[in-house]
Amino acid sequence: MAVKRVLQYGEKTLREPSKEVHKVSRKIQELVQDLLDTMYAKNGVGMAAPQIGVNYRVFVVDVSKNDEPLNPIVFINPKIIKKSGAYVGQEGCISFPEAYTDVKRYANVMVKALDRHGRPFVLEAKDGELLARAIQHENDHLDGILFIDHCVNRFETDQILAKHNLPPVDPDMLADDSEIEKELSK
Ligand code: NI
Repeated sequence: MAVKRVLQYGEKTLREPSKEVHKVSRKIQELVQDLLDTMYAKNGVGMAAPQIGVNYRVFVVDVSKNDEPLNPIVFINPKIIKKSGAYVGQEGCISFPEAYTDVKRYANVMVKALDRHGRPFVLEAKDGELLARAIQHENDHLDGILFIDHCVNRFETDQILAKHNLPPVDPDMLADDSEIEKELSK
């Protein structure tokens, strides 16, 4: 239970795929607590295990507003089982301090995962709400995919990254967003 150092864009672990959790052990529960502690310390909306250097398929989100009670949601071995619609909006990441850029996302997702006690649940997030976007952003981290891989404009994003002394977009890592683009053009 501790606030951990958050890896920054450019560090290799952020690009490595994470392993499934086979048992929601005490070690995994400690990881969950570290993720929550670190996310709240950094005022983040979400945090994925690779961001604190642990390549397990675990992430946490809390989309509650400042005047609302905390509402942490824990996802272990998440799978996005349905996605539809499209949405373009600005996103950032605790691993990219102060750098925000427009990214393409599905507007609606349904995700299946285990909670912090190892119990399965299904959650639906709709209409491009923050939760829908956070789930896609954090789930991507588990596959070494970063929000800039979904950027709307690579050259604009490079300028923003440079301003914050971060490495440029890796063209080889750009996501295939053709499905989202199809939805956007509807
Ligand atoms: Ni992130």
